[in-house]
Amino acid sequence: MSDRLRRAFAGLPRFEPGHVWLAGAGPGDPGLLTLHALAGLAEADIVVHDALVDARVLALAHPGATLEFAGKRGGKPSPSQGNITDRLISLARANLRVLRLKGGDPCVFGRGGEEALALAAAGIPFRMIPGVTSGLAALTVASIPATLRGVSQALILVTGRCGDEEDAVDWAALARTGQPIVLYMGLSNLEEIAASLMDAGLDPHEPVAVIASATLPEERILISELHSIAAETRALAFEAPAIIAIGSIVKVRAKLLDLAARVPEMVA
Ligand SMILES: C[S@@+](CC[C@H](N)C(=O)[O-])C[C@H]1O[C@@H](n2cnc3c(N)ncnc32)[C@H](O)[C@@H]1O
Repeated sequence: MSDRLRRAFAGLPRFEPGHVWLAGAGPGDPGLLTLHALAGLAEADIVVHDALVDARVLALAHPGATLEFAGKRGGKPSPSQGNITDRLISLARANLRVLRLKGGDPCVFGRGGEEALALAAAGIPFRMIPGVTSGLAALTVASIPATLRGVSQALILVTGRCGDEEDAVDWAALARTGQPIVLYMGLSNLEEIAASLMDAGLDPHEPVAVIASATLPEERILISELHSIAAETRALAFEAPAIIAIGSIVKVRAKLLDLAARVPEMVA
């Protein structure tokens, strides 16, 4: 490690025993971890992680650290949110340094807020460490700028897993904004979501990008239009995790790639 990097680490907060760090691991590529998350991995006694934290990120944990899975695993029984927070509280009370590591940013559709509230209510000292959220990372790696002057003035991050009535998404209201929509957890409901947006007046030819496993070696990108995207992702067997971007910003990708192709030795 260079002296400069060593100095950057030296300025980071200490991970005290009995504390919980609630950190984001970014979208997958270990290069997108923050220094704070990396320091947490280096010092934690136990890393309690969810399913979206990449194995290469977990490999950066202290060799003596315990790695404990706590999250949703497709089809298999998963611990309830209550079980997870109880576990974090009891580990902290056992005087361990507890790194709660989540994919992306802990507080963007990651239940980080719920866990922080429970830790605070139990009197456990904790820190919240932001991570690169997959919605933004996926756009950038797909050469789709999240915002561009003259194209969009806002960005909507929305969940496609619209649970109970309390959390129901007003798709018509989102469509009326005319601003780009970045959909998390939207693959399985894409047919219904696209139909709701078109019913609300969104152009069936609105450009759409699906970016699956963004930043990972198995990354896949599909560019299409709103009316056909659900059928195409099914036909091409696209799988979660995936980010779906809907709006004119998607068109910028073709222009950017076309211009970039003319630049000698361009790294796409
Ligand atoms: C429970 S949410 C967690 C989001 C996470 N906290 C974040 O900030 O990225 C899970 C969803 O995030 C998205 N996601 C997470 N990692 C991804 C990746 N590497 N590529 C594409 N989408 C991803 C998918 O929509 C996935 O269904």
